[in-house]
Amino acid sequence: LPGANVLVVSNREPYIHNHSALEKGIVVQRPASGLVSALEPIMRACGGTWIAHGSGSADRETVDEHDRIQVPESSAAYVLRRIWISEEEQDGYYYGFANEGLWPLCHIVFVRPTFRLSDWQMYQSINQRFADAVVAEARTDDPVVLVQDYHLALAPRMIRRRLPKATIITFWHIPWPNAETFGICPWKEDIIEGMLGSTIVGFHTQFHCNNFIEGVDRFVESRIERELQAVSLGGHETRIRPYPISIEWPPKELRQLPPAAECRSDLIKQFGLTECTRLIVGVERFDYTKGILDRMRAVDALLSRNPAWRDRLAFIQVAAPTRSKLNAYAKLQAEAEALAAEINERHHGRQDVIHLVPMHYEPADVFRLFRGADSCVVSSLHDGMNLVAKEFVSSRDDNEGVLILSSFAGASRELSEALIVNPYDTEEMASAIDRALSMPVEEQAERMRLMRQQIKENNVYRWAGAILLDAAKSRTRERVLS
Ligand code: G6P
Repeated sequence: LPGANVLVVSNREPYIHNHSALEKGIVVQRPASGLVSALEPIMRACGGTWIAHGSGSADRETVDEHDRIQVPESSAAYVLRRIWISEEEQDGYYYGFANEGLWPLCHIVFVRPTFRLSDWQMYQSINQRFADAVVAEARTDDPVVLVQDYHLALAPRMIRRRLPKATIITFWHIPWPNAETFGICPWKEDIIEGMLGSTIVGFHTQFHCNNFIEGVDRFVESRIERELQAVSLGGHETRIRPYPISIEWPPKELRQLPPAAECRSDLIKQFGLTECTRLIVGVERFDYTKGILDRMRAVDALLSRNPAWRDRLAFIQVAAPTRSKLNAYAKLQAEAEALAAEINERHHGRQDVIHLVPMHYEPADVFRLFRGADSCVVSSLHDGMNLVAKEFVSSRDDNEGVLILSSFAGASRELSEALIVNPYDTEEMASAIDRALSMPVEEQAERMRLMRQQIKENNVYRWAGAILLDAAKSRTRERVLS
């Protein structure tokens, strides 16, 4: 797409500026977000404008009079244009409709989705605000607009109305459920029609594409061409495509990191463990879709079954508090803390088994944790892709360490050399942990090498390349037809 004006639109911004009492100034934070970690390297490479919610306490002080800031600080590779959203609007649009409605709806994790009319109205009005910002930031009448995720399902159609020649690509970073489940949403037709303003709608897997097409078929008057995986609504055609998202290769964090042995001994010291302790780690946002309690229960079951592991293994779970205003999230954190205490009590020895760190780690610290670990557990109950799994593999250039991965994470389709588990099956997961910690290094290396090759070949540039290539084809097709 040579010369095209590229705009990314997402709720979460890639750089958050906050006031810091500790450092007496402004600090920049990189959020824990799969979406951000995938798109950021692309924007650094391509340039353009990223439109997102300015959520940091010092965000307003760091932008110019047009609410723009060049990022990252070190190289000013692209423009971040911030959108302001009041607390009341956040409650309706972000906490309410996006995170109490669409998030549990799409993840099918038995947290009942909540739909309130007032949240929906706020969601509509904030989607309009993002769409207006796209129109204001566009430098041509045919920009390439990359709309990201479930916060912005209505924006594509709103943008299409004002910029009919735009190439709009919407990527849905979370799962899309079957029509029966999606039918719960009172505004299902509006959500689907909103997304059909796009030129292309992308999901991580073919399965989610099929679910979406099934939903279109069930709820919207349109023409579906199954061979082409295309939907026509009101004379406008949208293609539905799988693009499995990935990570940067090699990850830039790896450049300044110490060897695995050093990372390991730092962790042993930091957590006050004995030298021979085997380390299992988990890193994510404190989210009920991630199966954090389930993996703790598996460690518990393993120790009950095989007490020889007592004092010989430690499970370090870093979980960044997230969306804590919502009940389901606050409850999960409290439950996890209680469960950790209970398990530590039950298997009491010289040292604790579970080390729960309810903190946000910056990417370099996450990589240090990965490199020092014997095993990483990703036990999502349902996940679009899950980039933590790919990041763990990418951090192990020593070819050691075992990945335990949920079969309900999109990543399990690609990383088949991981130990694949059903996170609802505690005993199976306990056996997988046992197996991981007992696996000969040759087998670890063989599995790691295959997974590393997979990610190297299918890195995030390949993901973006596939999307942009399809976008370029659509542009050519539309020009020929018009
Ligand atoms: C998931 C979503 C992203 C979101 C991220 C972090 O990966 O798909 O859209 O940015 O979680 O959640 P938050 O609510 O903090 O942006």
